[in-house]
Amino acid sequence: MIKIGSCSIHTKVFLAPMSGCTDLPFRLIAREHGAKFCFFEMIDAHSVTHHRQKTFSMLKTLESDQPIALQLLGNDPQIMLSAAETILRSVRASFLDINAACPVRKVIKKRAGAYLLKTGKTLCDTVKLLTSSLSLPITVKMRLGYEDETPADISDLAKRCEDSGAAAIFIHGRTRLQHYSGNVNYGAIRAVKESIKIPVIGSGDVLSAQLAKKMFDETGCDAILVARGSLGNPWIFRAIENHLKDGSLPGPRDLKEMKKVLKRHLSFMHKHMECSEPGKLGVMRKVTLWYTKSFPGAKSMRGEISLVKSYGKMLESIESFG
Ligand SMILES: Cc1cc2nc3c(=O)[nH]c(=O)nc-3n(C[C@H](O)[C@H](O)[C@H](O)COP(=O)(O)O)c2cc1C
Repeated sequence: MIKIGSCSIHTKVFLAPMSGCTDLPFRLIAREHGAKFCFFEMIDAHSVTHHRQKTFSMLKTLESDQPIALQLLGNDPQIMLSAAETILRSVRASFLDINAACPVRKVIKKRAGAYLLKTGKTLCDTVKLLTSSLSLPITVKMRLGYEDETPADISDLAKRCEDSGAAAIFIHGRTRLQHYSGNVNYGAIRAVKESIKIPVIGSGDVLSAQLAKKMFDETGCDAILVARGSLGNPWIFRAIENHLKDGSLPGPRDLKEMKKVLKRHLSFMHKHMECSEPGKLGVMRKVTLWYTKSFPGAKSMRGEISLVKSYGKMLESIESFG
């Protein structure tokens, strides 16, 4: 159990926010396989205040899709507050996270995401405004730094966020410049953990049960985020929980089981995605490649499903795979 502000969360293993990935079908399949706490996809505060329909469709959820957290992207405290108020009128969330981690160029150009790490002023102002105006806990997701990593600097910023009212810090153990390259700096996450009292949730290369344990052991963090390790691999949540409990490890992935779960994931997409048929098929292809990539024949599958023109044909291709 971990407490984030007033909110008790009954797991130490969270599904991370992943733009373009952790939509409702993804979360439903993850929950069926042991994910006990999930994030919505990141929501751009400006898109909410501009009433963009696509943004609101990203907030689609179900009663069985609880507990869940929201994450907002933005660079203006007032707009972030207005967006949060609009969303929270119709969406229930355990806490609200501010994205100070996204390294993507078009986000940085808008002075949002990891740009907020540069001086930390807008970030702390946003935390202060949201904590004083909203009743749910406010958290921050950050990286180790804007340019270079200086453990003292990031620990100092985490402390300033705590002093501004943040209820937890999520930290990806890489800098903005590193994107996803280089090793995760576990020592820097540990330094952050040791400099604040609020919970610290570690992120970075949690790609297997063993790496999940390593994140806990090396950083002393209170919980972890599972991100890329869950793409086409919803089994990772139970594998991590089991490994942390008794050291056990999962056996090799079974082809029949993979096909069954992939088809169930696609059925959730068929049912819940609100976009054109070709749009849906495009995302189904991406999801199919996540699941099949570690099996023999994955390369020819890529070619085959690029030609598929209907959901039914997609299911036939999966059935004949392997
Ligand atoms: C496709 C993709 C989309 C992501 N989108 C977000 C996002 O919207 N918000 C965020 O805070 N982090 C986002 N992340 C970062 C992850 O939450 C996580 O911190 C990062 O991938 C490191 O964990 P991993 O090495 O275990 O994948 C994204 C990562 C990926 C791969």
